[in-house]
This record gives sequence, structure tokens and C-alpha cells, in this order.
Amino acid sequence: MTLDGEIAVVTGGASGIGFASAELLAARGARIVVADLAEAAAEEAVGRLTGGGHVAIGLDVTDDEGVRAAATRVEQEVGPVSILVTAAGVTHLPVPPEELSTETWDEVLRVDVRGTWSAAVAFGRPMVERRRGSVVTISSITGLRSTPLHSYGIGKAAVVRMTENLAGEWGRAGVRVNGVAPGYTLTPLVKRLIEAGERDASGITNATAMGRMIEPAEIAAAVAFLAGPEASAITGVTVPVDAGWLISPSWQTYGGVRDHGATS
Ligand SMILES: NC(=O)c1ccc[n+]([C@@H]2O[C@H](COP(=O)([O-])OP(=O)(O)OC[C@H]3O[C@@H](n4cnc5c(N)ncnc54)[C@H](O)[C@@H]3O)[C@@H](O)[C@H]2O)c1
Repeated sequence: MTLDGEIAVVTGGASGIGFASAELLAARGARIVVADLAEAAAEEAVGRLTGGGHVAIGLDVTDDEGVRAAATRVEQEVGPVSILVTAAGVTHLPVPPEELSTETWDEVLRVDVRGTWSAAVAFGRPMVERRRGSVVTISSITGLRSTPLHSYGIGKAAVVRMTENLAGEWGRAGVRVNGVAPGYTLTPLVKRLIEAGERDASGITNATAMGRMIEPAEIAAAVAFLAGPEASAITGVTVPVDAGWLISPSWQTYGGVRDHGATS
């Protein structure tokens, strides 16, 4: 399905899930604004997108005024934004509550929750005025189930509810708001955590029904679907793309999901 003529802003678009989303939206014809804290990486990411007219901007989603100014500047200098993907995010170690510093707690919520909120409101407002647009948030399976990610998981649960609330606000203004809740996805972030021994790769894959991790392009496919016209009657939902992580724990009671001769 073509996205010719659409302008899509992707926060956190320089890396991982954000970049994969930018790549697919560009391949479908959209003009992309890669908005990322890492400005040089955003420039480099834009150079790897197919098609022309893509733009990189340095943006810290925790800087509320900066986000509003960026939204105004993008509207004036690039054009009317019709798609927003909020992929900027940070995480933390799964430490016991008493070891999670207040600074880390605040920082994760500031980026993941308030940053998502600021971007959605700033870039969503002109969509509401034009009565046309689509927002796709990126939460996480850890926002849908209990985990020891005491700040991150709470923040991602908040993003799920934020997605529903904004969908309610803007539904009759023609702006859809949906989300994708990724499972463990092989992005630079997760590769770093695995290499540093801070996440256990086999523990992750064993916890899924499909026995594997997810590729960024598989998250992007759901993002592009929700962002585009094929999802024209869908709003307020968060779609897990998790290789069956959410449904497999209840199988533990019966000895776990069947392996059907799987080798890993
Ligand atoms: N990788 C996974 O397994 C996984 C699973 C569930 C959810 N997620 C979520 O997906 C999103 C992307 O994660 P990823 O794995 O692609 O990570 P990543 O580290 O590869 O990419 C995150 C991007 O966000 C940018 N960023 C960080 N703080 C920012 C800020 N304040 N302002 C603007 N940009 C900022 C970074 O510079 C980076 O380019 C995050 O919200 C993450 O929580 C990832």
C-alpha cells in the first residue's frame, strides 16, 4: 500500500525499531523526518533511506519546548505531517527496587512517557486541525505483563493507556492513535544488553512460543500497517509483536510449549 505524499516523523529514528520503521515507511513512498537525540546518527540514517526529500533533525523528546518548536519548524519547512511514530526510548537493568536509583527511575519515565506524550501532542495538534493523521506509539510487552523492569515497565504500561486516551480524544477529528508492543527485538540496544551479559538470549527465546527473537523489520511491518490506510478503521489498540511471549507462560503448567523438534 503506497504512502506517496505522506510526511512521517519518526522519533528515535536513527536506530533500531525507529530506523526500521523509517526505512519501511520510506520504501512505501513517505517522506521521512528522522528526529533523534543523536543528530549525526539521524543524518546518517537519512542517507540510508530509499527515495528523496528525507530530513534529519536533532531532537530531545524530554525537552518539551524543543519538541513544540521542532513540530512548528517541520510543518513550516517540510510540510504537513500525517504520520508520527514515537520510537525514542531508553531502558534500565532489571535490578531490585532498592537498587534502582531515583535518577534512573525519573530519566526512563521522562524519555519513555513524557517524551512520547510531548511528541504526540506537538505533532498531533496540527493533524487534529487538519482532521487527518495517524500516530503509532512504541510501548513494550513489559507494559502488558509484570517484570522486574520497575520504571521501564510502568512507563510502557502508561504508553499503552496514553495510546487509548489520545485515540479517544482525536477519533472524531480523523486522527488515529495506535501502538505496537514489541517483544525482544534484535536492535543495537538489545544486542548491547546481551553482549554485556545484562539480558540472557536463551532465556528470552525460551520464553516465547516461537522460540526466537524478533527482527526490527517485523516491528516496522506492524508500524507501517497501523500508520497507513489499510488500518483506516483501527484506533486505540496496541498490537503485540512478540513471537508469542505473552501467551507462552501459561503453558509452563503443562511442561512448556511443544518444541516440535526445534534445535534451539
Ligand atoms: N529492542 C527491543 O527489544 C524493544 C522491545 C520493546 C520495546 N522497545 C522500544 O522500542 C523503542 C526503540 O528501541 P530500540 O531497541 O530500537 O533502541 P535503540 O537504542 O536502538 O534506539 C533508540 C533511539 O532513541 C533515541 N533516543 C533516546 N533518547 C532520546 C531522546 N531523549 N530524544 C530523542 N531520541 C532519543 C536514541 O538516540 C536511539 O536512536 C524504545 O521505545 C524501546 O523501549 C524495544
